Amino acid sequence: MSEWKNKTALITGASYGIGEAFARRLATDGANLILTARSVERLEALAEGLRSQFKVEVTVIAADLAQTAAWQKLFDETEGRGQQVDLLINNAGFGAVGDFADLPLDRQLEMIQVNVSALVSLSHLFLQPMLRRGNGAVIQLASTAAFQGVPYFATYAATKSFILTFSEALWAECQPLGVRVLAVCPGPTGTHFQAVAGTERTKRPVKMQTPEEVVEAGLKALAANRSVVISGFGNSAMVFIERFVSRRTVTRMASKLYRPFSTRA
Ligand SMILES: NC(=O)c1ccc[n+]([C@@H]2O[C@H](COP(=O)([O-])OP(=O)(O)OC[C@H]3O[C@@H](n4cnc5c(N)ncnc54)[C@H](OP(=O)(O)O)[C@@H]3O)[C@@H](O)[C@H]2O)c1
Repeated sequence: MSEWKNKTALITGASYGIGEAFARRLATDGANLILTARSVERLEALAEGLRSQFKVEVTVIAADLAQTAAWQKLFDETEGRGQQVDLLINNAGFGAVGDFADLPLDRQLEMIQVNVSALVSLSHLFLQPMLRRGNGAVIQLASTAAFQGVPYFATYAATKSFILTFSEALWAECQPLGVRVLAVCPGPTGTHFQAVAGTERTKRPVKMQTPEEVVEAGLKALAANRSVVISGFGNSAMVFIERFVSRRTVTRMASKLYRPFSTRA
C-alpha cells in the first residue's frame, strides 16, 4: 500500500505537465489532493475526473504565485483551516529562453517570484506544522539546469540552482525531525514548459522524458529519503560527467545547447 493513501498532498502548478502527473499518480495511490494554479477550469476538470475515478477528495484553490499575498492565503485556506498537508509539492515554475539583456526584466523578476520566492514562502509556512507533528515531506522541483550556469537561460538556471542548494540544506535540517525534503531535477520533459519558455528556438536535444517518468523518479527518491534525484539515466550521466570538466567548459557546452537561433552574439 502506498504511504500516501488517505494522506493529503498540496501540489502547486497542478494544471499542466509534471504537477498534473503528480496529481494523477498520487490519486491512484489513494491520496487526497489540494491542487493549485491559475488555470482554474483545467484544475476543476482534473479534480472532477480524479474524484470520480479514484474516490479521493480533491480541493481546487486558484492562486497566482507571482502575487506575494497568494502564499499566505494558500496556507490559510488549507492548514489554517485544519486541513493537514502531509506532502507539499512546490512544482509551479516557468522559464524564458533568450539573451538576458533582451528578455523583459519584469518577466525575469516574475520568474524569481514564482520559482524561488513562492517556493521559499510555502516551504516556510508548511514546514512549521510538519515539524511540530514530526512528519511530512516537501518535494521541490529543481532541474538539471541547476548544476551549472546556462547561457540564454540564465535567470531560469539560477532559480533552479537556488532551489537545489536550498532544498539540500533543508533536507539536512529537517531529516532529524522526521520531515523529508527532496529536490527533483528533471532534464528536458515533454510538457507545456517548452512552449512557455520558447525552447523550440534552441538546439536543445529533442529527446525528452515524460512527466510520469519524472514523478516516478521523485516518489521513489522520496521513499528512500534522498535529498536530490536527477530524473533519467542520461541526465544523471551528464551531471556526473560535468564534475570532471572545468566550469568554463561546462558553461560553454550549455551555451551551445540553449543558444537561440537568433541572438545578439
Ligand atoms: N519540462 C521541463 O523540461 C522541465 C525540466 C526541468 C524542470 N522543470 C520544472 O518542473 C516544474 C513543472 O514544469 P512543467 O514542465 O510541468 O511545466 P508546465 O507544463 O508549463 O506547468 C507549469 C505549471 O506551473 C504553473 N504556474 C506557472 N506560473 C504560475 C503562477 N504565476 N502562479 C501559479 N502557478 C503557475 C502553471 O499553471 P497555470 O499556468 O495554470 O498557472 C502550470 O501548472 C517547473 O518548476 C519547471 O521549472 C521542467
